[in-house]
Amino acid sequence: MAGNAPVGVFDSGVGGLSVLREIRQLLPHESLLYVADSGHVPYGEKSPEFIRERSRVIAEFLLAQGAKALVLACNTATVAAVAELRERYPALPIVGMEPAVKPAAAATRSGVVGVLATTGTLKSAKFAALLDRFASDVRVITQPCPGLVECIEAGALEAPATRELLQGYVAPLLAEGCDTLILGCTHYPFLKPLLRRLVPDSVSLIDTGAAVARQLQRLLEQGQLLAAGPAQATRYWSSGSPAQMQRVLPVLLGETAEVRAF
Ligand code: DGL
Repeated sequence: MAGNAPVGVFDSGVGGLSVLREIRQLLPHESLLYVADSGHVPYGEKSPEFIRERSRVIAEFLLAQGAKALVLACNTATVAAVAELRERYPALPIVGMEPAVKPAAAATRSGVVGVLATTGTLKSAKFAALLDRFASDVRVITQPCPGLVECIEAGALEAPATRELLQGYVAPLLAEGCDTLILGCTHYPFLKPLLRRLVPDSVSLIDTGAAVARQLQRLLEQGQLLAAGPAQATRYWSSGSPAQMQRVLPVLLGETAEVRAF
């Protein structure tokens, strides 16, 4: 397949755009396709079966658009669906993501790490295995954050209601002595500026967008699939309201683009 074919990226909504911007920064020659499943957001409270079915449908669509690789820019979808997609498409480079437990365990000085993520991610066997593997020497406090994804979908990154919700989730973690917070959902990096103002400077905020971009780079290199460029403009689809996504794109990515119905 031609290296200049696009990379398909998807998430339950607009959160995966935080990963897309890291991919663009590291791999500016790659053309990108992005599907926001905003008609079914949040995935965090949905069953693994439902998320697997959505991931299957979206993956098929992206491949039909000529994608040479897939990025599950969603921790919750990765937990539910990455194994099945890899089985279905054994030759396809597929990048999933998981909360940054390993780097957080290495970074903490207080020995207490907080994880902000969806209920689906935190309840999964994959996450339990991650803790067993990398966090046996530290105390990990998990915090599901219902409602937060919806604030980001609405582009309300600085709204008083968003601030209040976030503060309510973070305050107990700080009270327990967390000095490292894992942003274990791809929507949350968009709240970093707000979060930075809510937590002391000494608290590190860790997410995995850049690591996902590096993993994509490795897989494309291995498959000799790196694009020579120039990249084409990113194409966007939403299963929710394309007009709504068009409104929040400038807030989240600083750009305007057409969003099609998925
Ligand atoms: N952005 C997603 C994640 O990384 C899921 C958010 C949701 O739909 O609940 O987990």
